[in-house]
Amino acid sequence: MSLGGVFVDTETIGKEDWEELQRNLEATIPVYDKVNRVATFGQVSKWRRMVRERLPSNGRILEVGCGPGSFAEDVEGYDLVCLDPIPEMLKVAEERVNSARKKRGDGAAEFVHGKAEDLPFDDASFDAVCTLFSFRDWFDKRAGISEALRVLKPGGTFIIVDPAKINRFHGFLGWLWMRTYVSLYARILYGTGGHPWKWLTKTYVSFGTTKDYVSMLQEEGFIDARAKVVFPGMATIWQGEKPVN
Ligand SMILES: C[S@@+](CC[C@H](N)C(=O)[O-])C[C@H]1O[C@@H](n2cnc3c(N)ncnc32)[C@H](O)[C@@H]1O
Repeated sequence: MSLGGVFVDTETIGKEDWEELQRNLEATIPVYDKVNRVATFGQVSKWRRMVRERLPSNGRILEVGCGPGSFAEDVEGYDLVCLDPIPEMLKVAEERVNSARKKRGDGAAEFVHGKAEDLPFDDASFDAVCTLFSFRDWFDKRAGISEALRVLKPGGTFIIVDPAKINRFHGFLGWLWMRTYVSLYARILYGTGGHPWKWLTKTYVSFGTTKDYVSMLQEEGFIDARAKVVFPGMATIWQGEKPVN
């Protein structure tokens, strides 16, 4: 995709940038939920609930890029597996998610170290795969989508949430929101302009449009690929199903 004459690779952020991004993501752990809540004017919990409502009524669920467990904590029931490439994220998530599950009487969730692009699971082993605020960070989005398709059972559903751009003007507004409001808040929290949230703007710039990823889902073999821009336009939910045969 070309933005203002500058070519943007919407499929990958490159391995080197990805490794630096991972170091920065780890540094967000202590304030992750606080910044997200403020950055999205509290909307993030509504978006997470919308994903939970799209899950099948039971079965085995995989969350790719679980981070510190902010979504997984409220996934009630199910046989839940959470994957992340950052060991510290998995440690924080495991404590948080499994303590909430224990209180509710749910069985313990499984926490697995790995990457979206090379999922350490058998073919056709999940009823749903979801990924929230992580897809934008994947170093090879097409490979990750293809892996999600592989590990899903026939008829299984794949759900992605991230802040995509509807078009170039909307992308500019999104960039402005991250560069000013979110950056200022992170700067105040960390007391320095060198805070890890600057990567939010960087990954957003190289992220594609809502339509780009509907096409990618179709090209990789998902059926009924669709996207919904959720109020107030700061995030998109994509969904597609694995064909039954
Ligand atoms: C911003 S956190 C999202 C946390 C959580 N899903 C939520 O709802 O808030 C993004 C997570 O994606 C993970 N991630 C980044 N690149 C990834 C990849 N290639 N495969 C799997 N996870 C990845 C990061 O390690 C990070 O923990």
